[in-house]
Amino acid sequence: MPLVVITGANRGIGLELARQYAADGWQVVATRRDGSNQGGLADLAGVEVQPLAVNAAESIAAFAALMQGRAIDLLIHNAGTMGPDPTRQSKDGIDAAGWLETMQVNALAPILLTLALKDNLRPGAKVATLSSQLASLAENVSGGLYAYRASKAAVNMGIRSLAADLADQGIILLALHPGWVQTDMGGPKAPLPVGDSVAGLRRVIAAAGPTDTASFIAFDGRRIPW
Ligand SMILES: NC(=O)c1ccc[n+]([C@@H]2O[C@H](COP(=O)([O-])OP(=O)(O)OC[C@H]3O[C@@H](n4cnc5c(N)ncnc54)[C@H](OP(=O)(O)O)[C@@H]3O)[C@@H](O)[C@H]2O)c1
Repeated sequence: MPLVVITGANRGIGLELARQYAADGWQVVATRRDGSNQGGLADLAGVEVQPLAVNAAESIAAFAALMQGRAIDLLIHNAGTMGPDPTRQSKDGIDAAGWLETMQVNALAPILLTLALKDNLRPGAKVATLSSQLASLAENVSGGLYAYRASKAAVNMGIRSLAADLADQGIILLALHPGWVQTDMGGPKAPLPVGDSVAGLRRVIAAAGPTDTASFIAFDGRRIPW
């Protein structure tokens, strides 16, 4: 049974990823930070729930220690934050401390966690990070969301470096866009049901081969320009 690790799996896209991979027969290690609401995670059969606050170095180290000796086929960096209120990451005001916290969660954590788990990754393993279309430099014509956009663009750059640096191990790195999804983050106007987004993401991940490493792909297979 292949093993997938999913961060931020107590709600939203992460919870649905855990549900669908478990239903498909995968071994699922689903992480959530202490104190977060468990959502339906505790009720999912066959899912192992472990603590992980992705913005805390000691929590990443503790999780890596707990995973020692376990081979990982797929690592999904899903935990993420929108950062400060949109009005506080706009031309009318920048919350500088909030911007840095956003970078910690969205940009730094996926890189630190990948490196902490790199000896667990099987040859040919995949590392998929939930980025966002809003990270695209080429497609940003609408402005705003400075901290969120910058943090996802930064993680994309980290993914490109990791793809080059881990190529010898045969690891495939992907930056993914899940669509505009009906979750707490997506909000009430989001058009895409979480089940459809996750089904699409799983198809993209399954289809990805060595030549797809360092690609930026949407849930429906569209290649997103960096
Ligand atoms: N929804 C969309 O339309 C959309 C679009 C593009 C990209 N994305 C990306 O997709 C991913 C999942 O989004 P979502 O819509 O499912 O978001 P969500 O509903 O807001 O859920 C976010 C998840 O991340 C976890 N998280 C946040 N900070 C964390 C930390 N420091 N340590 C551990 N876990 C943490 C949350 O845990 P708590 O419950 O403890 O807060 C929660 O489980 C994110 O990376 C997001 O940027 C979403």
